[in-house]
Amino acid sequence: MSTTAPVTVASGEPNIDGYRSFRLGEFKFSRDEYFVYVEWPTGKHVMSADAFLKALQRDVAWQFFYGIVNFDGVVGTVNHYGTVDLFAGRYNDVYRKAELDHLENFDTSLIKATFEQMLDDWTNDGFDPFAAPSETGSAFGIKNGNNRAAITRHGHPINRHFLDVPQDEPTIYPEAGFEKDIASFNLFAYLSRSQVTWNPSVVSVCGDSLYCPTTEEYILPIIHGNDRVEWFIQLSDELIWQVEDRDSGSARAKVTMRAGDVAAMPADIRHQGYAPKRAMLLVWENADPELPSLISSGQLPSVPVEL
Ligand code: PHB
Ligand code: FE
Repeated sequence: MSTTAPVTVASGEPNIDGYRSFRLGEFKFSRDEYFVYVEWPTGKHVMSADAFLKALQRDVAWQFFYGIVNFDGVVGTVNHYGTVDLFAGRYNDVYRKAELDHLENFDTSLIKATFEQMLDDWTNDGFDPFAAPSETGSAFGIKNGNNRAAITRHGHPINRHFLDVPQDEPTIYPEAGFEKDIASFNLFAYLSRSQVTWNPSVVSVCGDSLYCPTTEEYILPIIHGNDRVEWFIQLSDELIWQVEDRDSGSARAKVTMRAGDVAAMPADIRHQGYAPKRAMLLVWENADPELPSLISSGQLPSVPVEL
């Protein structure tokens, strides 16, 4: 993963709106009151500043996640677990056919440090890129302080949509001698207090099996392209998933999940979730580092079961 070697982030002086610009290889990033601009040798792209910061926050916090993180249909990253590709138009049929796409590979430490400084410089006081829209202030306007507490924070009061979730903790009766080995907590109570949305966090590790529950509200701010199968277990409420072909973006499925539903998302898709109300989701990941090459070489199928 990322190293601690010092890296030099290429950034410019603040512009007229107070924001620094950043360079990563031949990519250039800048922002003004409303928008973020991404430039590369064959093109230029614009995103709303709030959508960009919400995606950037997750890419940084997840250390580039598994597979692909699409900020939108044009710009994103591919994790190679030690290095990361930054791309524009690579997973977009129209850019590919017009040969306007661009991709560069960076050491994880350099892209991580650049993204962290960009997130810090471009996130204003009062805007929380992890929060649901009705729980945060505005991302827009000229530079106004920072929100370092939000972009590096942890948790607490019960969310307004989860006030009915019981908060009692389980009682355990360990055999004598096992008191230090057995522990428990109320996962629903823990999730009911999460302040952040669309941010799976690892709560259990058993070999390569990772349980990553998360609470969701509004729209997943990135479009994730899988490099392995992911299982979803809907713990409460409802989520709608738009599922597309990972490489071309053509539609594959629309999946509505209600409490108790279980779905396996194939390894060759990209997907984006919608949550009308705060909802609890368990994302079950297989962290085996061999999976991406076993799947891309055809030795393993991209679905976990054939029906
Ligand atoms: C996913 O892409 O699988 C994903 C990402 C963030 C979430 C849930 C699922 O909060
Ligand atoms: Fe995913």
